[in-house]
Amino acid sequence: MTIVITGATGQLGRLVIESLLERGIPASDLRALGRNADRLASFAAQGIDTRVIDFAQPETLDAAFSGADALLLVSGSEVGQRLQQHRNAIDAAVRAGVGRVVYTSASKATDTDLVVAPEHAETERLLAASGLPVTVLRNNWYTENYLGTLDTAAATGEIVASAGEGRVASATRADYAEAAAVVLTTPGHEGAVYELSGDTAWTFADLAEVASELLGREVVYRSVTPEEHGSILTGVGLDAGTAGFVVALDGNIRDGALAEATPTLRELIGRPTTPLADGLAQARAAA
Ligand SMILES: NC(=O)c1ccc[n+]([C@@H]2O[C@H](COP(=O)([O-])OP(=O)(O)OC[C@H]3O[C@@H](n4cnc5c(N)ncnc54)[C@H](OP(=O)(O)O)[C@@H]3O)[C@@H](O)[C@H]2O)c1
Repeated sequence: MTIVITGATGQLGRLVIESLLERGIPASDLRALGRNADRLASFAAQGIDTRVIDFAQPETLDAAFSGADALLLVSGSEVGQRLQQHRNAIDAAVRAGVGRVVYTSASKATDTDLVVAPEHAETERLLAASGLPVTVLRNNWYTENYLGTLDTAAATGEIVASAGEGRVASATRADYAEAAAVVLTTPGHEGAVYELSGDTAWTFADLAEVASELLGREVVYRSVTPEEHGSILTGVGLDAGTAGFVVALDGNIRDGALAEATPTLRELIGRPTTPLADGLAQARAAA
């Protein structure tokens, strides 16, 4: 049994490998892939096969994928370049004849206005056309995305956002990683598209309450318009493109793109997902 994990040098991939080892998968059954050779070294020290790859360089992928019974394709992090990168990875997976592919996608990827969804939707289409057995893990937001918000709140007593009353059904990376490990090591997931989320969809007012508790100071949610939000973000030094991206994501949240809490993640991992307060407390402790 060979399980190959891309993005192993990243935050999610590392947790998937930890989860696979915790589930009793021998290190010798795993192959960790990433671009950063230094970060791969800790896996090699545990007896895990490692390879340096770059999705942008297809020639690095064939040997890395060869013999894979299951390939976890963790979506790349270079927004705008990912579709070609994922295409390269899927073509290499077909050439290598991998047993099955598990792909980390985004909530409702093929039926949403979420600004990061188009690359995921197109990747899902390429996977469906590849002829390989595929499982899609459509991950809602990571709770850890709000660690920076918490840091700002610690300094200012405010959470400023243009998400209105929108809700986010986030879960921790560790929750999603455990689900990936379950899917990689148990049968019956071929063809499935799993909408994965935390058990509870929270508002930014809820986030402010949690922040108040964690920080031991009053934190309020200041709901602003998209225009005000953009000006505030550029005022603190964000470039216009990044500010626009953040405002667009808040718009997606305001419109409900991340609001649906599904039972699927909880069912896959066999326990409740990590509550917002616990997830943020753990992330703060780890930071
Ligand atoms: N659901 C959410 O809230 C959310 C938030 C952010 C991102 N995401 C998505 O989920 C993925 C995993 O999240 P994460 O937190 O683990 O991200 P991360 O820590 O940034 O890790 C990204 C991983 O992708 C690898 N990678 C990036 N470009 C690559 C390329 N051209 N070739 C080969 N590998 C490449 C990186 O390798 P190196 O580090 O070795 O370069 C790293 O291992 C992200 O890449 C993104 O697609 C989801």
